Amino acid sequence: MPTKCLAGNWKMFKNRAEVKAFFAKVGSSLASSRVRKVVAPSPTLLETALTAAQGTGIEVFSQNAHWSDSGAFTGEMSPAQLVDLGVKGAIIAHSERRQYFGETDETAVQRALACLERGLDVIYCIGERVEQRKAGETNAVLKTQLSSVISKILPKAGPRLMIAYEPVWAIGTGLVATPEQVKEAHAFIAGLVGNSLPLLYGGSVKADNFAGLASLPHVDGGLVGGASLEADSYIALHGILDKSH
Ligand code: PGA
Repeated sequence: MPTKCLAGNWKMFKNRAEVKAFFAKVGSSLASSRVRKVVAPSPTLLETALTAAQGTGIEVFSQNAHWSDSGAFTGEMSPAQLVDLGVKGAIIAHSERRQYFGETDETAVQRALACLERGLDVIYCIGERVEQRKAGETNAVLKTQLSSVISKILPKAGPRLMIAYEPVWAIGTGLVATPEQVKEAHAFIAGLVGNSLPLLYGGSVKADNFAGLASLPHVDGGLVGGASLEADSYIALHGILDKSH
């Protein structure tokens, strides 16, 4: 069974004082659990988070990474630079990167490959938009998004790759996918990538809906935005995941 993982995507939120306060509140309360615990802050907060996270058992990931080690790529961060900081992994292909910053399946795969080669773990995001779901295209979209992941990344990655299924219409909207929809999508994804990779669900996860989702087959954790920002809520989500299955 894949390792369970609770990953907090902090997006463009928090300042340094808030990051320190978050980790101070979590303290060592989660340090000994076997659930993998991740937060992904903005680039400006990575160093603060890495220092403050010591002793909490929480790993610090980046929200993005370029595919080159260095070069003329204004605004980007390389996997080598992230490794140099002490970052453990990166979220790649988040739907907000796809929607607002021109991320494609092709560029995302390049980023993920470079991360894995440099020793960074990867949470690779996929998910359909609302019109695609309404048109009955969900599985076809997931299959397309996963096709180069399967051919190019999977043979090299092993369990250092996690897949996050995040229906775009459920992200930040309060519209969580139903357990039936999550069950169906995760079974479909597991059918394509096999049973060894952790599969995370994301999209309006909260403490009051997570128990139902985390107990579904092929759901090994969550990629959580809004509800991961406060320490109390992060701790509650962790407790739910720890008890699930
Ligand atoms: P949300 O975001 O939990 O705020 O819906 C999830 C994500 O974007 O990863």
